[in-house]
Amino acid sequence: MAASVDQTLSIAPVRWTGDEMRRRIRGGRRQPLARACGLGRIDSLRILDATAGYGRDAFVLAALGAKVMLSERLPPLADALVAAHAQALDDPAICAVAARMTVSAGDSRALMQQTQPPFDVIYLDPMYAPPGQKALAKAPMEALRHLTDGDPDARELAQLAWEHTGRRVVIKRSPKAPTLLDRKPSFILKSNRVRYDVYVRS
Ligand SMILES: C[S@@+](CC[C@H](N)C(=O)[O-])C[C@H]1O[C@@H](n2cnc3c(N)ncnc32)[C@H](O)[C@@H]1O
Repeated sequence: MAASVDQTLSIAPVRWTGDEMRRRIRGGRRQPLARACGLGRIDSLRILDATAGYGRDAFVLAALGAKVMLSERLPPLADALVAAHAQALDDPAICAVAARMTVSAGDSRALMQQTQPPFDVIYLDPMYAPPGQKALAKAPMEALRHLTDGDPDARELAQLAWEHTGRRVVIKRSPKAPTLLDRKPSFILKSNRVRYDVYVRS
């Protein structure tokens, strides 16, 4: 993580309401994110979102029925997630979704090694910036890219996820990014601008 950057300046608000989120949730369990996680197959799937960021993917998964733990190591963003979660629990429109979510501040590597029984699914969406690529992401993500320094330890995180998942690891990548694990994905799902590499254990 880039130590020289003022981490309090650039974090965008955490928002789980609004048209964009509603549109994503309307996509239902047939959308690639949900299918990659295996949401249609198991009731109350337990998912660790080990790279929670602004918590948007996690909120979509919880809205579609999963129990999701959001883990974020960047302190101001973890604080923002805790605050957004508390607010969501008080909002009648989304409190049922929020009740399926928990937030953990800290490094997911420790969390995934400590949790028993293991999560069914570990979901990863680490930062990715190909060498020389300039700002292509939307502003909030661009801010995160600076703050996280591009998540240089993402390969180690992915390897630990594979060792500690109950059923599968799902890794969101940009379409041309290399795989993060040194093994062939069990299958790959593609949508507009992203790819989900799915590694199934059982
Ligand atoms: C691209 S963002 C994730 C965006 C998220 N999927 C969303 O929907 O908002 C990646 C996040 O993962 C976090 N992260 C990366 N490695 C982590 C780790 N080992 N433990 C916890 N958080 C981590 C970064 O701090 C960053 O906020």
